[in-house]
Amino acid sequence: MFMRLPLMLAASCELDTNSYKAMEVAGIPVLLLRDRQGQARAFLNSCPHRGAILSEGQGPATRFTCPYHGWTFGQDGKLAGYPLREAFGDVSDIRLTEFSTFESAGMVWVTLNPQPLVSPKAFFSGFDQLLDVFNLNDWTLLTRHELPGPNWKLCFDAHLDFYHLPVLHGRSFGPGMSPKAIYGYWGPHQRLSQPQNTKADIDDDINLFKLDPGHPDRWPLGSMMVGEWIIFPNVSINYFYRGGLGMLISQIIPGRRSDEAVTVQSYFVAGSPDESQHQAAAEQSAFLAHVVGDEDLPTSAGQQLAIQSGHFKEMILGRNEGGIQAFHGWIERVLETEDAELNELFAIEPGWRF
Ligand code: FES
Ligand SMILES: [Fe+2]
Repeated sequence: MFMRLPLMLAASCELDTNSYKAMEVAGIPVLLLRDRQGQARAFLNSCPHRGAILSEGQGPATRFTCPYHGWTFGQDGKLAGYPLREAFGDVSDIRLTEFSTFESAGMVWVTLNPQPLVSPKAFFSGFDQLLDVFNLNDWTLLTRHELPGPNWKLCFDAHLDFYHLPVLHGRSFGPGMSPKAIYGYWGPHQRLSQPQNTKADIDDDINLFKLDPGHPDRWPLGSMMVGEWIIFPNVSINYFYRGGLGMLISQIIPGRRSDEAVTVQSYFVAGSPDESQHQAAAEQSAFLAHVVGDEDLPTSAGQQLAIQSGHFKEMILGRNEGGIQAFHGWIERVLETEDAELNELFAIEPGWRF
């Protein structure tokens, strides 16, 4: 799955011109960069000489020098220099393995394959135009937390269910959260929102009961965007609209083994925050890292243990856990589909289904 589909590996605003970010996805070392022309590119982060990891971390860079023997590569992946030239013959065609990459909706999408197997058009079927409304290019990355957990699907299931909110998160979020979710499906992608009730104390801007049904053009965008947005297969976006704007993007990235994954939480704030917004956002992002890192992921690890025991063979999913059912249904369909048929599988008539 992770080598066949476009994966959201970074927000566009994370990659300045002439900068890079090294990461690992399902055991594959990836070097993301933005070249001097402004184009985002992704390569296997491995030196073609003898395979050493080329770069670690992130930051500004226009050249990448391998720490093993010093081969140096340009932003186009071409070998630009190497010590002891006389020891090699013609090296003019040596370059880094490049992955298929594009940008859309303020995010960088990479297929961990030189050839794209699914076109962006089919993969999103218009969903990226909805994501565009977030205007992610104008946000600032404030904090990042990397939270270890078990198999990526178990970690992701917890993003697809509000049923657990008042129980597992009864102490952190408080017991007043609704356990119900309204699921909207856009092909494999989803949006979860919470039903509102008239008595709830909700900001006017997102209170659906205060919207004028005769004038949808005057409805504040925030009321349409709160909730959780799921990008198949492994990204969830939480959009907060409580006084100020905040956005948490969670990438559930499989590890080297099937029983490990990392939840990368990136917290973005709109525009350039002042000191006090900065402080408030830092507290909110630390709180969300606590909720997922100390409540969700230990629970998912327990499920992993039960499954590995061999005695837990079947889960029970109720009607209110429709998001999880849809997610696993799509995984099965992708796994059953040949590469050549993937475009057809993903291309849908744009629109929500409930
Ligand atoms: S492995 Fe990179 S220079 Fe030798
Ligand atoms: Fe949770």
